[in-house]
Amino acid sequence: MNEKFYITTPIYYASGEPHIGHALTTICADVISRYQKSKGKEVFLLTGLDEHGSKIAGKAEVAGKTPQEFVDAIAPKYTEAWTALNIKYNDFIRTSSEKHKKGVIEFIKKIEDKGDIYESFYEGLYCVDCEKFYTEKELVGGLCPDHLKPPQKLKEKNYFFNLKKYLPEIREKIKNGKLKIIPDARKNEILSIIDSGIPDFSITREKDRVKWGIPYTKDETQLIYVWVDALANYITALGYSDGENFKKFWPTDIHTIGADIAKFHAIFWPGLLLSAGLPLPKIIFAQGLITVNGQKMSKTIGNVISPNDLIPKFGPDGTRYLLLSQFPTPEHGDVKADNFSEKYNSDLANGLGNLFERIFTMVLNYEIEINETKISPEIKNSVRETKKQYESDFENFNLFGALQTIFGFVKKLDQYINEKEPWNMHKNKDAELLMVLNSLFYGAEEIIKLIEPFMPEKTGLAADFAQKIKNREMPEETKLNLFPRI
Ligand code: MSP
Repeated sequence: MNEKFYITTPIYYASGEPHIGHALTTICADVISRYQKSKGKEVFLLTGLDEHGSKIAGKAEVAGKTPQEFVDAIAPKYTEAWTALNIKYNDFIRTSSEKHKKGVIEFIKKIEDKGDIYESFYEGLYCVDCEKFYTEKELVGGLCPDHLKPPQKLKEKNYFFNLKKYLPEIREKIKNGKLKIIPDARKNEILSIIDSGIPDFSITREKDRVKWGIPYTKDETQLIYVWVDALANYITALGYSDGENFKKFWPTDIHTIGADIAKFHAIFWPGLLLSAGLPLPKIIFAQGLITVNGQKMSKTIGNVISPNDLIPKFGPDGTRYLLLSQFPTPEHGDVKADNFSEKYNSDLANGLGNLFERIFTMVLNYEIEINETKISPEIKNSVRETKKQYESDFENFNLFGALQTIFGFVKKLDQYINEKEPWNMHKNKDAELLMVLNSLFYGAEEIIKLIEPFMPEKTGLAADFAQKIKNREMPEETKLNLFPRI
């Protein structure tokens, strides 16, 4: 039986349409998933929407809709964007679904039975847009640091989760790598949050205040806190507690998330899982956040980029490439929207696309027979080195690095062409031409395999074209024209 691999994206708030920040985590997860499939693993990729909470209820009210109508209208925006980006997910979980609600209630019951939930009062400063409480210290000039809005002062009866009981075990598992947090900077942040004495958190909210959520079965004045509801998606989607997929795929091999939600995933979630007697995620991979032209994306600034702004121009593969090649994903990075066309033209049209065109055109025009025994040791070595580096990039979830590795080899093949000048060899009837073009053809085929997880559509076209050449069926179109210039 194939080894399993379970990978998740965060579930995005159904409060608005997807932007390139959401797309980045989702594309990353899809690339890792395709890579793992290429290793023969049975992969389950989960994504979806976080649909409860007061922020969404508020937006629905403004739009004159019920919360359910509101999220029902948002959901297709996400599924359509992911389809357009060629994201092959196995399930799209929505937290307003019956399946999810049933799983959450069962999960909470388990934690209750363990004696880890108690009643108390919560008093604090709550930012509705973040759906979380802030301490005075965390505020900037009295405002929520993310939304620059004053938080609300709240005092309410809530049910609390006894996180303290599990902190030493969580700490130990993070320290010894059983729960691996990538990158190290995030791991150290999490450890220092634990060391600074993180308080227990409330797992319910008063229904009078938050009207849109999953009822807490033990006390009808309460709803499940939206973060607890949301985190549980990773198990409810698999059919917790007795679904076949749950038995097969849990624990997750990797949660891909943004750095902004690391605390919830690396402290709260493991605490809840330990209490429920479930194994912990193996890896939490926290990506950096995108700013656009130096600023956080915001409707007021007008710098929000939607995947739909890019896909018609650059295609799904071009968009996937442009987003992943901006900066190493574990770091925060800025995207200069004006540079997208330039980067597309230089790396894809003039770089990769042109290399394939040169190689395939020469093989066709010079009527070269493809023969795997005629490959130069220089190119073979270079492929070996490239693959070694690529595997290690993927092991560290360094997708930016993997792309650089591939493009390093693209450059190498370009140089090889320029050095060997096959057109002169052809003119001079040089016998070495057969080896040079076979080496180039082999190099191109290796690039196709390596780049497949990143650009599944274009690599499919290139692979078919190469196969036709090998079979000596002249492709109808003698030009592949993989990435037309913009
Ligand atoms: N609903 C919660 C997550 C619950 S997961 C159990 C949430 N949603 S969110 O829509 O605000 O954003 C979630 C994730 O989207 C971030 O963690 C990150 O992965 C991605 N991004 C959202 N904005 C982003 C950027 N500006 N840049 C990069 N990724 C960003 O939090």
